[in-house]
Amino acid sequence: MPDSLKEARQLLAEARNIAILSGAGVSAESGVPTFRGAAGLWRKFRPEDLATPEAFAHDPKTSWEWYSWRRGIVAGVQPNRGHFALAKTECTVITQNVDGLHQRAGSKNVIEVHGSIWLLRCTQCRREWEDLSPAIELMPHCKCGGLARPGVVWFGESLDPNVWAAAETAARSCDVLIVAGTSAVVYPAAGLAPIAKAEGAKIIEVNLETTSLSASVDYSFTGPSGVILPQLLDR
Ligand code: OAD
Ligand code: ZN
Repeated sequence: MPDSLKEARQLLAEARNIAILSGAGVSAESGVPTFRGAAGLWRKFRPEDLATPEAFAHDPKTSWEWYSWRRGIVAGVQPNRGHFALAKTECTVITQNVDGLHQRAGSKNVIEVHGSIWLLRCTQCRREWEDLSPAIELMPHCKCGGLARPGVVWFGESLDPNVWAAAETAARSCDVLIVAGTSAVVYPAAGLAPIAKAEGAKIIEVNLETTSLSASVDYSFTGPSGVILPQLLDR
């Protein structure tokens, strides 16, 4: 085992408060496509056609088709070893992922900063409800008659202030923050690492490649999160 891995394991073993910021890369080994990179969703689809309030207002059917397709993918996959390693560890999971795989792996303390594809929200009365059916009707409606939208955060929208406050508190109060499987380019989520660091937390990055954060973290492990997270966390 490399010395840096031993040190990071030690740091985590001694930490009183561990937080993790996860991104699409953590679900990649489960078979959920990431957004950026060669096979990323944003290579094939334009966010402005699917994942903005304007796109949904203009063509909700196309937007819903895309979210239904993604719900179908996630319904057909399983959490991976990275999700399970986190679920076995006492920590706060701050995730940008909308797939719900952390919860399915057993993580209890999950903050979904970008919402969830399993959550629906009425565009009229704002009621929110969960719908776990893999084959959802294409244009789901609320009982008030209003059209429902996916309960995710779109481009141009701000995060739920309560959810963001919880994420920021977790980042400020941890002594180690693991940043895994995120390109760390989407704000404000990417800003959680500098926030944690400013409060004195050690930062451990896990990614297949270097990111804009890599130069400023304490430990950077290059490899799949399904392999590295268990190496870091399993006791
Ligand atoms: P990205 O697709 O931008 O980045 C995925 C990151 O995971 C990249 O840095 C990859 O190198 C890395 N990666 C891929 N496979 C990996 C693996 N097996 N192990 C470890 N790392 C791996 O995804 P996010 O950073 O999550 O927002 O994207 C942030 C936000 O942008 C998403 O939440 C979404 C998107 O637009 C919204 O939908 C609001
Ligand atoms: Zn309604």
